[in-house]
Amino acid sequence: MTIDHYAVFGHPIKHSKSPLIHRLFAEQTGQPLIYTAEDVPQQAFAMAIERFFLNGGRGLNCTLPLKELAWQTASHLTPRAQRAKAVNTLTLQADNTLLGDNTDGIGLLNDLTHNHGIAIKNQRILILGAGGATRGIIAPLLDHGATNIVIANRTPEKAHFIAQEFQDLGDVTGCGYPALENQRFDLLINATSASLSGDLPPLPPKLLRDNASCYDLAYADRPTAFMDWSHRHGARLALDGLGMLAEQAAEAFYIWRNIRPETATVIAYLNQQRQHGIPS
Ligand code: ATR
Repeated sequence: MTIDHYAVFGHPIKHSKSPLIHRLFAEQTGQPLIYTAEDVPQQAFAMAIERFFLNGGRGLNCTLPLKELAWQTASHLTPRAQRAKAVNTLTLQADNTLLGDNTDGIGLLNDLTHNHGIAIKNQRILILGAGGATRGIIAPLLDHGATNIVIANRTPEKAHFIAQEFQDLGDVTGCGYPALENQRFDLLINATSASLSGDLPPLPPKLLRDNASCYDLAYADRPTAFMDWSHRHGARLALDGLGMLAEQAAEAFYIWRNIRPETATVIAYLNQQRQHGIPS
């Protein structure tokens, strides 16, 4: 029996939970594979990717700061990766070309809707930040029937630019944080990288409608600054991105192995580890 090799490249990568998640998926589904993590800075990406696939690698996840490089490197792109301008999943095809996909958006949607019962249809959604993470989640949110999406960013021009890019898919507008005064939303999504350093964008206090939910794409061992803000300002739910991480991995696993792993027990395990302070 051959054992297929998959990996995640990123920088830094030491604390990645992806090897654990894919090991649990492989055990659960009986798939013969190994999944490793490699620290690959941007300047080493081209060499590392060539070596990985020459040595028999079958599929690769790319995380920060490599998603845009992976998008440039892929020979073909799925429509959702093309839209996102970012690739987190590369798959070796039968003709030795690389197909680039992006499973982040579907990962978020699965966590929001299946795991937490958060409605998207007819909802007014605010996304904080206008980087690559934002680009990956707009189309699936509109696909699921969001009424409108406002993108707020420290540099408003970037928010306007992304909003323009997604105009054809629905009602998307961009603004700076001061323009959020007097606006109310059903769902807030933090897609800034500020959370990781404990920072928060300057948010007006009355952003949340009754029953609003808040979701931080980042995750940490403790509640993020954005989750703390959300609790203080009346959110019904304040979640971080651990569930999204497992769901985007499940989608990558499905692309590679054509088997959909079950995520609930894996997410429960990750949460349990976190509660007990066990490093991955
Ligand atoms: P990613 O690919 O993870 O989205 P990115 O493209 O570097 O990363 O984007 C990071 C986002 O976080 C940007 O929207 C950035 O705002 P600017 O475009 O104004 O730089 C936002 N961000 C980072 N630190 C922030 C902070 N302290 N306060 C507010 N926004 C912040």
